[in-house]
Amino acid sequence: MCGIVGYVGRRSAVDVVLDGLRRLEYRGYDSAGIALVSADGRIEVDKRAGKLANLEAALAEHPLPESTCGIGHTRWATHGVPSDRNAHPHRSADGRISLIHNGIIENFGQLRAELEANGVEFLSDTDTEVAAHLLGREYAVDGDLTEAMTRVCARLEGAFTLLAVAADDPDTVVGARRNSPLVVGLGDGEYFLGSDVAAFISYTTEAIELGQDQIVTIDREGVAVRGFDGQASEGKPFSVDWDIAAAEKGGYDTFMAKEIHEQPQAVADTLRGRIDEAGQIVLDEVRMSDQDFRDIDKVFIVACGTSYHAGLVTKYAIEHWTRIPCEVELASEFRYRDPVLDRSTLVVAISQSGETMDTLMAVRHAKDQKARVLSISNTVGSTIPRESDAVLYTRAGIEVAVASTKAFLTQLAACYLVGLHLAQVRGIKYADEVSAILDELVAAPGKIAKVIENLDPVREMARESAGSDRVLFIGRHVGYPVALEGALKLKELAYLHAEGFAAGELKHGPISLIEAGTPVIAIVPSPRGRSLLHDKIISNIQEVKARGAKVIAVCEEGDKITAAHADLVIETPASPTLLAPLLTAVPLQEFAAELATALGRDIDQPRNLAKSVTVE
Ligand code: F6R
Repeated sequence: MCGIVGYVGRRSAVDVVLDGLRRLEYRGYDSAGIALVSADGRIEVDKRAGKLANLEAALAEHPLPESTCGIGHTRWATHGVPSDRNAHPHRSADGRISLIHNGIIENFGQLRAELEANGVEFLSDTDTEVAAHLLGREYAVDGDLTEAMTRVCARLEGAFTLLAVAADDPDTVVGARRNSPLVVGLGDGEYFLGSDVAAFISYTTEAIELGQDQIVTIDREGVAVRGFDGQASEGKPFSVDWDIAAAEKGGYDTFMAKEIHEQPQAVADTLRGRIDEAGQIVLDEVRMSDQDFRDIDKVFIVACGTSYHAGLVTKYAIEHWTRIPCEVELASEFRYRDPVLDRSTLVVAISQSGETMDTLMAVRHAKDQKARVLSISNTVGSTIPRESDAVLYTRAGIEVAVASTKAFLTQLAACYLVGLHLAQVRGIKYADEVSAILDELVAAPGKIAKVIENLDPVREMARESAGSDRVLFIGRHVGYPVALEGALKLKELAYLHAEGFAAGELKHGPISLIEAGTPVIAIVPSPRGRSLLHDKIISNIQEVKARGAKVIAVCEEGDKITAAHADLVIETPASPTLLAPLLTAVPLQEFAAELATALGRDIDQPRNLAKSVTVE
C-alpha cells in the first residue's frame, strides 16, 4: 500500500519520479505528491488529491525547478481522508526536510501530543507528519540525515518505509524500512529507491533487497546500508528477470485484459524445469529436503483474498493426494486464535506480492511456534519469502492490475506442484493417479489458451447481466473456491453485490436471495468420474431455476446434461476435477471485467483498493 520512489543521479528527477509513480500507482491511488531538492538548497513540493494524473496536470501547468534528486509518493489513505493536505510528502516545521511514508506509525498519537506540547503545529491528519517533525528536529542537531533517521526510527513503532530529503543536502535520499517494503535500484552514477522494482525498471534491472530494520542512504557516489542500531550492513543484490515491456499494457485496453491473456504462458513458466523426465517433481530451490517433507504430519495454508482461494483449492488436492490433514485459514485470523502448530507442521503462506502484512504476521507467528514455513510468492526479494524457511516462486511476471488473475492461476500451479511433490516423496497410494495428474498439469497451459480464445460468449453474458443488482456463484468441491473467487472478482471490479456459495448450502438460507432473473453462475464439475458431484449440482441448478434464477453454467465441453438445465453454458476443456480451477476461473475473470466495463468502472484501479496490502 502506497508507492514510494526516490532518485539521485544525472537525470531530471521529476521525470524519473513520475515514471516510477506511474508504475507504482497500483499500490495506492487516492493522492500523489513529489518533493525535489534544488541545487541551491530548496525543497519544492507539489501534492494533489486524486489519481496521479491530477499531480501530472498540476506539474505540467506549474513545473517545478530543475532537480536531479527527489522523492515521490502515491497514497492509499490510512490516517486522514484523501486530500491535498494529507497527501505526502510532509515537511518538518522549518520546511528543511520532506518525508514520505508507507505503513502505519502506531505510536503517532503519543508522539504528536509530545510534539504539540513543544509548540509544533500540525498541518495534516496523518500519522506520517510526526516522523517529518521528528526528523527535522533530529537533523537540526548535527546536520546528518542518516544519523537523524537512525535516531527517529528508534522512536517509531509499527510498520513503516520512510524516505526523506533535506534542503541542505541536494544529492542524498535516506530511506528506512521496518515491516514494509523498500528496494534499491543500482544505475551507473544514479541510484533509485522504490516500494518494488517496478519503480525503476525503465532504468535498471540490478537491485538490492534490504533486510528488516535497515536504513539506506543513496547519493551520486553509491549506496550505504546500516541497521537501526547504526552498525554498517549490506543488502542482498539480485537481478530483475522481467523487462519494461512486462510493465506496459502491450496493446490491451487494460492491464487486467493483458494479464488474463498472459495466463497460459505464466502457468507454463511456473511449471518449467520443475518436473523432470522421469516424472518426478524437482523443487530444489525450496530449500527443504525430501526427509523434511516426509516429516510433515499437518499442513496449514495461510493467505488473503484471491491467494486464500488458491489455498482452498489446494486443500482438496493435498488431502486427496497425500492423506495429510490440511487446513486453510485467512491470514488475518490465524495468529489470533492460537492454532496448534509444531515442528512437524508445514505452514504454506501464499502471497503474490510477498508483502501482505496479514500473511507476514501469520508467517512470523508460525515460525515462533517452530512450524516450518514454505512461501509461494511472485515477488523475488519480498519480505514473506525472505522470512520463510523455503520458497517456491510463481513466475507470473509483474501483475499490475489490482484484481489478481495470472497470479491466481500460477499460485494454483505452484500449489499443485507442492502437493504432488509431497505425494511423491511420501509414496502414497494414488501413485498412478499422481503421474496421470502430472501429465494433465503439463497440458494445462494449452487448455487455458483454448478457454481464452472462446471468451466472446462470456463477454456477451456479462453485458446482459450488467443491469442485475446481484450475481450469485455456486460450486461444489474445488468449484466452491472458484465460486468464491468469481464473486470476489465481480465485487471488487463492478462494486456489485456478488457472493459465492457452496451449492449445497443454498437451501440453508441464501436461496432466499434468488428473485426472477437473478444471475446464478454455477461451476459444474466434470460429468465423468465423480458423477455424484455432478448429479448434486444439477439438483442445485434446478432448485435455483425453480425460483426464477437465470443460470449460467461453467461446465466441461460436451456436458449435455448441464446444457439441458442451464440457461446459458460456458464450456471448458476436459480436465481432472482437482485441476479444473485452472480453467473454470478464467471465464469468471473475464465476466467480472466485462460487466465492470459495462458499468463504466476503472478495471485496473478499482475504488478503495490497493495492490499490495502492507497494513493489518
Ligand atoms: C483480489 C486480490 C487480493 C489479493 C490479496 C492478497 O483480486 O488481488 O484479494 O489476492 O490482497 O494479496 P497477496 O497475494 O499479494 O498476499
